[in-house]
Amino acid sequence: MKPLEILMILATISQSSWAAMSGSYCTEIGSSTYRPHSVTVTEFGAVGDGVTLNTKAFYNAMFYLRSFADKGGAQLFVPAGKWLTGSFSLISHLTLSLDKDAVIIGSMDPSDWPVIDPLPSYGRGRELPGGRHQSLIHGSNLTDVIITGCNGTINGRGSSWWGWSDDHTLNYTRPHLIELMYSTEVVISNLTLINSPFWAIHPVYCSQVLIQNLTILAPPGSPETDGIDPDSSTNVCIEDCYISTGTNLIVIKSGWDEYGISFAHPSSNISIQRIIGEAKSGAGIAIGSEMSGGITDVQAEDISLFNSLYGIRIKTSPGSGGYIQRIRITNIAMTNIETAIAVTGQDVEHPDEVYDPNALPIVNMITIEDVKGARIKYAGVLEGIEGGEFSSICLSNVNLEVSSRSPWKCSYIEGYSYLVSPESCEELRNPNQASLCHTSEQVNLTNLVEGELAWQFRY
Ligand SMILES: *[C@@H]1O[C@H](CO)[C@@H](O)[C@H](O)[C@H]1NC(C)=O
Ligand SMILES: *[C@@H]1O[C@H](CO)[C@@H](O)[C@H](O)[C@H]1NC(C)=O
Ligand SMILES: *[C@@H]1O[C@H](CO)[C@@H](O)[C@H](O)[C@H]1NC(C)=O
Ligand SMILES: *[C@@H]1O[C@H](CO)[C@@H](O)[C@H](O)[C@H]1NC(C)=O
Ligand SMILES: *[C@@H]1O[C@H](CO)[C@@H](O)[C@H](O)[C@H]1NC(C)=O
Ligand SMILES: *[C@@H]1O[C@H](CO)[C@@H](O)[C@H](O)[C@H]1NC(C)=O
Ligand SMILES: *[C@@H]1O[C@H](CO)[C@@H](O)[C@H](O)[C@H]1NC(C)=O
Repeated sequence: MKPLEILMILATISQSSWAAMSGSYCTEIGSSTYRPHSVTVTEFGAVGDGVTLNTKAFYNAMFYLRSFADKGGAQLFVPAGKWLTGSFSLISHLTLSLDKDAVIIGSMDPSDWPVIDPLPSYGRGRELPGGRHQSLIHGSNLTDVIITGCNGTINGRGSSWWGWSDDHTLNYTRPHLIELMYSTEVVISNLTLINSPFWAIHPVYCSQVLIQNLTILAPPGSPETDGIDPDSSTNVCIEDCYISTGTNLIVIKSGWDEYGISFAHPSSNISIQRIIGEAKSGAGIAIGSEMSGGITDVQAEDISLFNSLYGIRIKTSPGSGGYIQRIRITNIAMTNIETAIAVTGQDVEHPDEVYDPNALPIVNMITIEDVKGARIKYAGVLEGIEGGEFSSICLSNVNLEVSSRSPWKCSYIEGYSYLVSPESCEELRNPNQASLCHTSEQVNLTNLVEGELAWQFRY
């Protein structure tokens, strides 16, 4: 084939591939499901005065609405008001719908957040051995659940939990704001989530999850207040969110060391689009550190990050096992970020002493392209594991305005870069790696032409 023909083929493929890939599992999830039956939480005795505890009203509403599951499901409407509650559990075929002036408020009493079993893929609570507090809004083994509102609010009032975590006075791992386990066809949309005690949204062992049009806020300094953490989940779409939290914006996970390895539930087919935010002491898009079940086929596109410690961060360690593969992160704008791209194979946290230090993670086929950065300190700190495999890490069209005199720091890593400024480290300039770079499902460049040439023809 002549170069021009190749160019034309590639232009055609790259226009259609993203839409084909992300569209296939994002559009199948029904966000506009009609519920023939609707009730209001006040019908179950709830009082929206910000003082009355409404846990029982939510519980009774769910109990009553169960009988509509096979009749198209039901909607529970939360009108304007301040609805104080402890943790409650959802049911299948339910829409929990908040008025724009509705605020669901988490109780400040830890005994209103019951303690449940640790996740099998973690073997213990994330913060402490043993169980963990159940999330404010919880769901397990559900199908067809929608949590939505016209920008209504769920406020976890996490400040006392942050304090207990900082002083080491927690008895169990902190609760999330919303957690769904073993569930499918989940939509969380059109809401504002404030001050989660821990991670704001945690879909774990889920599939077909759409998270759209959320504002997620927690103050700088609030410990481990991640935004959205898909964990051992597949076919997850996260779109159009503004996230400003104490730690990370979006983190993809799949279990912790030997527990994650034996539970073996990967995260795959994760699509992230149109995210804006700041992660004062964390990363915009992170993968790991818990990744022992494997993470594959992640696409992140159109991300705008500012005032953060890291832009993109991959975190793992000896003992993790598992893999991080086929990741494509594209069209990222960064402003005022300490380290734009970070990979570490030396994260120090392990669930216990039983982990196998010889279980090394495999990190390959990672592509980061079309990145612009202003006010960046370090372009990249990429540190693999001696004797491990951190390969086909590919950067293209990356332009960073960097203040440090040594912008790249690389070790035990290999890959390829093209049009990268400041010029990348030697380890990422290996032409033999070019043909291994991950592009996308439909574009397998090695089928067209070999190697470096094909990669470069994309520009
Ligand atoms: C969010 O709200 C908009 C405007 O009301 C609506 O068109 C859209 O369908 C909602 N999205 C979801 C996923 O519920
Ligand atoms: C939920 O599903 C998981 C996996 O299928 C199963 O192990 C667990 O027992 C189920 N839990 C309940 C409460 O049904
Ligand atoms: C996002 O939510 C707002 C407020 O509910 C709504 O006006 C807007 O249409 C939504 N946008 C999308 C893309 O759903
Ligand atoms: C939703 O409310 C939050 C907090 O009040 C606000 O910052 C955000 O702009 C609103 N989002 C939309 C889409 O109206
Ligand atoms: C931890 O347990 C102690 C003793 O039962 C109790 O007084 C304290 O309130 C608990 N703290 C939390 C945060 O649950
Ligand atoms: C991931 O998406 C692809 C393409 O849409 C699909 O063929 C595959 O079955 C999905 N994987 C899982 C685990 O659902
Ligand atoms: C691309 O195609 C070649 C040859 O058919 C195959 O060996 C290789 O595994 C494919 N690469 C990917 C990433 O699918």
